[in-house]
Formats: sequence, C-alpha cells, structure tokens
Amino acid sequence: MAVDVILGLQWGDEGKGKIVDVLAKDYDIVARFQGGPNAGHTLKFDGKKFVLHTVPSGIFRQQLINVIGNGVVIDPITLEKEINNLIAASVDYEGRLLVARKAHLILPTHRYLDAAKEASKGDQKIGSTLKGIGPTYMDKTGRNGLRVGDIERPDFMSRYTALKEKHLGLLKQYPAIDFDLKAEEAQWFASLKTLKSLVFVDGEYYINKAIKAGKKILAEGAQGSMLDIDFGTYPFVTSSNTITAGVCTGLGIAPSKIGEVIGITKAYCTRVGGGPFPTELFDENGAFLRKEGQEFGATTGRPRRCGWIDLPQLRYTIMLNGVTQIALTKIDVLDKLDTLDLCNAYQLDGKASEDLPYDLCGYDITPVYQSHPGWKTNLTEVKEFGDLPVNAKTYIDKLEDLLGTPITMVSTGPERKQLIFKSVAAVA
Ligand code: GDP
Ligand code: IMO
Ligand code: MG
Repeated sequence: MAVDVILGLQWGDEGKGKIVDVLAKDYDIVARFQGGPNAGHTLKFDGKKFVLHTVPSGIFRQQLINVIGNGVVIDPITLEKEINNLIAASVDYEGRLLVARKAHLILPTHRYLDAAKEASKGDQKIGSTLKGIGPTYMDKTGRNGLRVGDIERPDFMSRYTALKEKHLGLLKQYPAIDFDLKAEEAQWFASLKTLKSLVFVDGEYYINKAIKAGKKILAEGAQGSMLDIDFGTYPFVTSSNTITAGVCTGLGIAPSKIGEVIGITKAYCTRVGGGPFPTELFDENGAFLRKEGQEFGATTGRPRRCGWIDLPQLRYTIMLNGVTQIALTKIDVLDKLDTLDLCNAYQLDGKASEDLPYDLCGYDITPVYQSHPGWKTNLTEVKEFGDLPVNAKTYIDKLEDLLGTPITMVSTGPERKQLIFKSVAAVA
C-alpha cells in the first residue's frame, strides 16, 4: 500500500489534527514525519479536547499504531506531559506509540539557544515558539545531534555533556537569558524514563515492512508549507521540510510510495509569529476572523494574525506538495459575513502576477481580490454537501476551479463529527 499524506498548505494551524483524527479510523498506522513540540494539533470529540505536540493524532483510535518518525525532534519533557494527559484520559497507548531511533532529541540548552537567538534579533524576530526546534535541527545538520537511539548507548552521558558544554559556550555570544539548568536537566533526565518506556524502532524498516504487508499508513505533517525551510517565507520559517518531500526523509520511504496527498487549508488564512502575510487584515474583518475562529495559538496561546484566503499562495503549495485533494476547514467561521473576499492574484511592484515572487519579504505586494456573497447561515450542523446553502456551494466550487484541485472534505466545526465528505465524482 502507498502512504497517504495530510499536511498544511498555509502557515500552520489549518486543522491537521482534526482531519487526521477523523480519517485515522480507516488506517493501520499514523506517522508524524517532521517538526516537534512547536506543533499544537487540536482534537475534539465526545465533548473532550486534546492538544497534541509530539504524539501523532491517531492515538485516540485504539486500533492503530502511532509512529514518531526520524524526521521529528523530541523534547522528552513535553512528550512526558502529553503521555500523562493520555493516562489521565485512560487512553491505552502502551505498545501503540513507537519512536524512531533516528529521531533527534531536544536538550534544555537547545531551548535556551532558541530564546537567546530570538532575543538577539530585535525587530527581526522569527516569532519562534521557543521550543528549541531551530537549534536542534542545526545540530542535526551540523552532525552534532543526539538521537533517541543514543539513549541506549553506554556513552550517552558523555555525549550529552559534550553537547551541553558546546551550547553553554555558544550562549556566551548572545544576550544573557535566565535559566535554571540544574533543575531543568534533572527534569529532562527524569522524563527520559517515560521516553524509554515507549517502543523504539528502526523507523525506516518498520514503515517499509508495513507497506509491504499491505498496511494503510497516514503521514501527519506539522506546521504548514509556507513555513517550509526551503520554500517557505524564509527566514520566517521553521527548520524542517514541511512539504510532501519531508515524508520521504522523515519516515525513510521512497517517493514512489506516496499515495494521496491531502492538503488542508482554512477557508481564510492565519499566521502566528513574524514574517510576510500578503492578505493579512488589520481592520474589523481581521478582528472578526480572530474572534469567530478563536484564532489563538494551540502551543503558545499567541493571537494569530488573520486574513483572506490567498490563492496564489495555495496554488504554489499545491504545486510543491503534489496535492491530490483538499480539505477545506473552518468554513463555519465565515457564516455571519455579508461578503467575503478571496485573493486570486498579486500586484507585484505594480505588475499583475499569479506566481509568488522569490522573496515575499522583498516586494511591494498588493493582493487583487474577488468578492463573494456570504451565506448568512449556520453551517455547523450541516451533514451533507447537498444541504449547504447555494452561496457556500458556489464559494467551494469557485475555490476548486481556481485551485484546479478537488475539495473532498469541508469542515464545519472543531468536532470530529463536523466534517462533510464531498465525493470526487460530484466535483466533475
Ligand atoms: P493544526 O495545528 O493544523 O492541527 O490546527 P490547530 O489545532 O492548531 O488549530 C485549529 C483550530 O481550529 C483548533 O482550535 C481546532 O479545534 C479548530 N478547528 C478545526 N477545524 C475547525 C472547523 O472546521 N471549524 C472551527 N470553527 N474550528 C475548527
Ligand atoms: P502546527 O503543526 C503555526 C511558526 C512560529 C514561528 C515559526 C518558527 O500546529 O500547525 P519554530 O518554533 O519552528 O522555530 O517557529 O514557525 N510555527 C507555527 N505556526 N503552527 C505551527 O505548528 C507552527 N510551528 C511553528 O510561530 O513563526
Ligand atoms: Mg497548530
């Protein structure tokens, strides 16, 4: 069987956790392939809410295995907290949560470096979640990192100490920040116990054998394609490949093993942290989207920047990812609007363009909008595509047409049950 992929097409928080949780019921394995505790994936069902950072969003489906892939960076402290939440919710995770030995570890000093680097950037801050993501991936590519499999080696302690000392040396180059290394180190080592209680696997063998055995696998992305280290709004990005290519390196599978690529986009757009955002709204519409959509970060609680849906941006990420179908989320947030706008082109330094420029930061970009009449109807209870009001249907049809990709799912609320499946046949 091929590996299907779910990933975000914007700047993160598109609703990946929710869609993975819904679709997971038809899979045998859910595997996270990149990112780390910078992610916050929210799941709501049976009146309960969970936010996952490292644990894959298939964990609440008892029949399936969840894999934290080699492309993920793991902070054992965050992971332990997540596991404690699972225990409190009586979720039986034992034997079902597997960790790739080649996944890298986030040390307390990685987090300090993240904070110190951000502090040194003045008004050019990335807006990092300060979870140590950038410094950990830097150590990975710099060939200094510590991996999960290293925990089992006899020289783990000396490797840890060498890396920590290196970090303490580096920290001297940055503005001083407050930290209590002794206390956090103690917590970090204590939390390794929980990590060690999970099943360690050679992830690439595990996944490829599962593919051979005909298992259905769903790869879960974190962040969004516009935060991709290569193709996002650099330098205002994260430090991993968030696009489909990242599934191959983050799980150890060949490109030919990729099946469906389900791209998720909100019916509008948000971004948290610094960096360019062409369709950002600074008016009452932006405030409306933030309030109606409850746009506050699932990891940091920061207010998210809000704006209209940006089709040049989405066409770009559909292209990069080879998206075969789209899940459109949070359409209900637009329910009360008289009209909504969608950006179908940019004016770049005065010239019309349907493509994104080399650097979104370096150009004077004016979005060119099309207006669409609102539907002024509560969509949160609608179960069938055919029961949507005409204006909502024509909005979805218009998006499909302008994006050249079928929208197969429409999410009308945060709950597991609030998802409309639109058959591909109906698209034609
Ligand atoms: P992720 O990082 O992509 O998993 O997304 P987040 O969990 O960070 O943010 C998505 C937020 O929107 C969460 O609070 C979800 O509960 C919520 N959500 C997901 N889908 C919908 C939807 O269709 N409608 C509404 N109103 N909320 C949704
Ligand atoms: P999920 O998986 C939204 C953003 C941060 C910052 C930039 C770099 O929940 O969609 P980092 O901590 O990686 O150094 O931050 O990326 N960012 C996210 N924004 N959703 C996320 O994850 C994000 N993970 C990182 O706000 O701008
Ligand atoms: Mg999120």
